[in-house]
Parts: sequence; C-alpha cells; structure tokens
Amino acid sequence: MRIGFWQFRPRFGAAAHNLRQAREALSGVAADLLVLPELAFTGYHFRDRAELMALAEDPAASPTVEGLSGLCRENGFHLVTGFAERKGDKVYNSALLIGPEGLVATYRKLHLFNTEKEFFDPGDLPLRVVEVAGARIGMMVCFDWAFPEVARTLTLRGAQVLCHPSNLVLSGYCQQAMLTRCLENRVYAVTANRFGADVRPHGTLRFTGRSQIVAPGGVLLVRAPAQRRRLEVVEIDPATADDKAITPRNDLLADRRPEFYA
Ligand code: ACM
Repeated sequence: MRIGFWQFRPRFGAAAHNLRQAREALSGVAADLLVLPELAFTGYHFRDRAELMALAEDPAASPTVEGLSGLCRENGFHLVTGFAERKGDKVYNSALLIGPEGLVATYRKLHLFNTEKEFFDPGDLPLRVVEVAGARIGMMVCFDWAFPEVARTLTLRGAQVLCHPSNLVLSGYCQQAMLTRCLENRVYAVTANRFGADVRPHGTLRFTGRSQIVAPGGVLLVRAPAQRRRLEVVEIDPATADDKAITPRNDLLADRRPEFYA
C-alpha cells in the first residue's frame, strides 16, 4: 500500500484556489491514500464563528468535496483531508475520507485547541475504523495527539493506519508524541501539517510544517521540512500493524489491565 501526505500552504478563505493547488500537486501521483492538513481549504485563523460559518461547507453540497471526489476518481486514490464542516447551525473541525465514490467517512475533532473552542462545536461522532485499499484506517485531527485515548481507541477498534490532518502551531511536541503513539500502539501514523501563516487583521498565526509518517515501533519513515511544500509517499505493509508483540511475553493489547483503569 502506498500512503503519503501533502504539506502545503492554504490561502485563507480561498477554497477554490486551494482546490486548484491540490489538483495541480496531486494529479498523476501514484498512491492509495494521501493525507492533507487540517482545515486545508478554508485556512485556520478565523475572526469569529460567523466568519467560520460563512466559509464552512456542508459536505452534501460542497464544491470542494465534489472537486476532491473527481480528483480521486481520476487518480484512483483516496484522500483524508481536514475540512470545516457545516451541518445546520453546527460547525465542526472535521476530517473527511473521500474516494472515487465520493465522501466515505467523517470524523469530527473531539479535542478542540485553544480558540477553536470559541468557534467550533465539539465532535459528536464515535471513533470509527474504515477499510480503504486493503488497510483499516482511523482518523484524528491535530490536538487529538495530546489525548493518547484517541490513538488507543482507534487501535483497539482495529486501525492499522492513523490519518492525522494537522495545523500545528507548537513546535515539535506533536511530532515527538506521535512517535510514542506508534510505539505504544504499534500502528502507522501519517501526520499532515501545513506551513506558512494566516495573516489576518486580528493577528498572524504561524504553522510549523514537519509533516511525517511513522511506522509501528515508533520508526520515523519520513519527515518534511518546516517551511516548504512537500509531497511524500511511502510503501507500507499495513499487516505489520497487526503484530502487537513487543517482547516474546508482551502483547501491547492483550497485556492491558482495563479493570484497573476505570
Ligand atoms: C491544533 O489542534 N490545530 C493545534
């Protein structure tokens, strides 16, 4: 299976422009599954909830989702992308799994970061595992890295690959933590971060790049530079993630003692 990320610099509030960027960069890429950053088409640094609401889209009637589905059809791959998802009067910081057949699955960020709490509704969907191109994948978004329960729950539900759209603003913590998530769960993780800045009248927010792909055991397969566009695709065997043995006598899932965790 060929999985990868596309690290780029979205332009704030310019979904059609960002979709064109994605089409130019990803057409012709030989991959099964590509992960894009959090809020990849709207940008991140909203002035207020009203501005977010105006930029967010309902995936059921979204030119962005339609355009990405077409890109998947033309290239035979699936995408996981961050997405500002509007549903009625709610708005979620979501990750969408999109394929040639259109929208396949939605995850809504459970752990909102800092001022996101003022703008977004907190996620309200269970953590789900979905089969894509022969692998079982789970989705999480950015700050979910700080809650080991997310990666562990997805692992317990069978995930082999964690797809992790991000807009990281703190330098290095997440990348380091995801090595541990992959060590303690023996899964793959693709963290797709953006770079550049959202320069807005109410302030500038800078993003830290360094997207990465990690293998079971916490092995770093590839990491992007901090402030450059980067597409990376690697070949993996998702079945490697089914072996949870860490010593001949220790299995990371079978050895758990949940009766002591409550
Ligand atoms: C983040 O959750 N975007 C830091």
